[in-house]
Amino acid sequence: MMTTKPSTRSIVSIADLSKEEILDLIELASWFEKHPDSKILDGKVVATLFFEPSTRTRLSFETAVNRLGGRIIGFSDPAATSTSKGETLKDTIKMVANYVDLIVMRHYLEGAARYASEITDVPVINAGDGAHQHPSQTMLDLYSIHKTQGRLDDITVTMVGDLKYGRTVHSLLMALSHFRARFRFVACDELRMPEEFRTFCDRNNIEYVESKDFSPEVIAETDILYMTRVQRERFTDLMEYERVKDLYNLDAQMLGVAKSSMKVLHPLPRVNEIAQDVDDDPRAYYFQQAKNGLYARQAMICTALGIDPRK
Ligand code: CP
Repeated sequence: MMTTKPSTRSIVSIADLSKEEILDLIELASWFEKHPDSKILDGKVVATLFFEPSTRTRLSFETAVNRLGGRIIGFSDPAATSTSKGETLKDTIKMVANYVDLIVMRHYLEGAARYASEITDVPVINAGDGAHQHPSQTMLDLYSIHKTQGRLDDITVTMVGDLKYGRTVHSLLMALSHFRARFRFVACDELRMPEEFRTFCDRNNIEYVESKDFSPEVIAETDILYMTRVQRERFTDLMEYERVKDLYNLDAQMLGVAKSSMKVLHPLPRVNEIAQDVDDDPRAYYFQQAKNGLYARQAMICTALGIDPRK
């Protein structure tokens, strides 16, 4: 029989979640994969406020709510809202909070989701804030790793491409710090993993090796190959973007040295960093990974609302 916990909570950063809470969310996501249409959000209204473009995150959050019997309001084009008349983020959040039980928000400013969570009692889930954090992507990444590797502990994760602006790699690195992961960071100088995250690894005794070379040796030792898009929208200098955008591309032939158990993940969208011929390799997992987002987000929505359907 379902019970409702009294307390709600925001999920703004992956650092808001303890190891035990992450493991519980994975277990809950697994439950939702078996029961995706449980009508446990009957009477709940969720707002999806997307100040930046999205396909997967917004649609999977909205599918998650719809399948659970809740209702959705929101926008995907801020130009069609009173933001375009000069309304502040503060006022927008305070207005929307009058109408809903939960806010899911993507914003181009780092820290916007934290700010939103501090000015309202309605829980906020961060659906990506600038180059900072993307905790729901991380939960679906962790769920995908757990499903494909049978564990989260002692995994060698190679992150390739835009490690500077990539909020997904930043969030994933922090989450995997609970699980003794080993990292390989493959990036050019311009897109190197930022110092704050290298310092985080040093302080937490997390093994990492940096390389500019996307070599067969790196691929061969990898359990999870996490490819990323070089994000044009994050560059102020478009000449720099042109210089670095095609440096790291994966094709099917390169997977010849990879473990059979290895999986290629990508938060998507991709541009050309994964060739189409990789899609037919059994190690390509990015489309299933995106599907896992539905279950991971159902788990996060219910956790934010204090609802546990397993009880
Ligand atoms: N991975 C991800 O955030 O995709 P969207 O930008 O399409 O939501």
